[in-house]
Amino acid sequence: MSFRIQPQPPARPNRCQLFGPGSRPALFEKMAASAADVVNLDLEDSVAPDDKDAARKNIIEAINDVDWGNKHVSVRINGLDTPWWYRDVVDLLEQAGERLDQIMIPKVGCAADVYAVDALVTAIEAARGRGKRISLEVIIESAAGVTHVEEIAASSPRLQAMSLGAADFAASMGMQTTGIGGTQENYYMLHEGQKYWSDPWHWVQTAIVAACRTHGILPVDGPFGDFSDDEGYIAQARRSATLGMVGKWAIHPKQIALANQVFTPSEEQIREAREILAAMEQAKANGEGATVYKGRLVDIASIKQAEVIVKQAEMIEAG
Ligand code: COA
Ligand code: MG
Repeated sequence: MSFRIQPQPPARPNRCQLFGPGSRPALFEKMAASAADVVNLDLEDSVAPDDKDAARKNIIEAINDVDWGNKHVSVRINGLDTPWWYRDVVDLLEQAGERLDQIMIPKVGCAADVYAVDALVTAIEAARGRGKRISLEVIIESAAGVTHVEEIAASSPRLQAMSLGAADFAASMGMQTTGIGGTQENYYMLHEGQKYWSDPWHWVQTAIVAACRTHGILPVDGPFGDFSDDEGYIAQARRSATLGMVGKWAIHPKQIALANQVFTPSEEQIREAREILAAMEQAKANGEGATVYKGRLVDIASIKQAEVIVKQAEMIEAG
């Protein structure tokens, strides 16, 4: 390990973030009753320009009136290139009660974007004597966002999570696709006449995970647009979990159970992790740093790998 110890991310489950448009208040009670760990009430791209003011009012009312249980309640504000974002922050911080946990900033392109929101939030919190310190989350969904991903991850002590927004990212990068995540027809390797599909989201995902892990932020996979394709969603979520992401968005309630299933370690994974820890305890007692578990090498690094799974399981159980 470097002399600089890798910080831990916030210890709360973030397996599924359920989105709902602020202009559809009939969904709010359903979102609150769902099995998602995080709810994201949206003021941005699922709300038409003429509905922005009404959506803001709906959301403020719902934060104050709906029983959100132990959910992490987040509101996605409009982008910093719009005329709406400052009013989103001011009205939320001045009018929504203490049940508001987090603000999500979309299309973040540099650390200064987060700095601007942090400064405004900090001033209003002080002026209003708000008790709960609002946390922030960001979406990486542009060429600038991925180019500056590390400075963004380091931008504010309020920052808790970072998601990949596949659709805006694809548009910003000029990618030839209209799909939101998942396999892309034209992204394949050809070997002896056979096509082997590869993952066009892999690079940006690993860039996000590395920046997040360096700075103690939760890395999250964003939307999967085709909500009639459960298999496709699960395949995408499994790839994200394998790369180190902790959860994925749901843009329809049927995706919640799929995310929870993939991002909750299975009984089998937990048992194996505990067995590896026990095998390493035994090795340590024998004065060895490495041993054999089920015919394969395990060593001191394996303890850390197994602990990732055990800690995740314990946190989910506690949360
Ligand atoms: N949260 C909670 N419940 C939801 C929901 C959501 N996001 N979307 C739909 N539902 C409910 C519906 O009200 C319906 O409930 P009912 O059985 O009690 O009538 C049920 O789930 C089935 O809904 P369905 O008819 O299949 O969906 P729809 O046509 O009403 O809405 C979408 C489909 C995609 C438009 C809607 O799910 C949605 O707006 N998703 C979020 C979009 C968003 O926020 N995007 C921004 C982030 S990318
Ligand atoms: Mg977007």
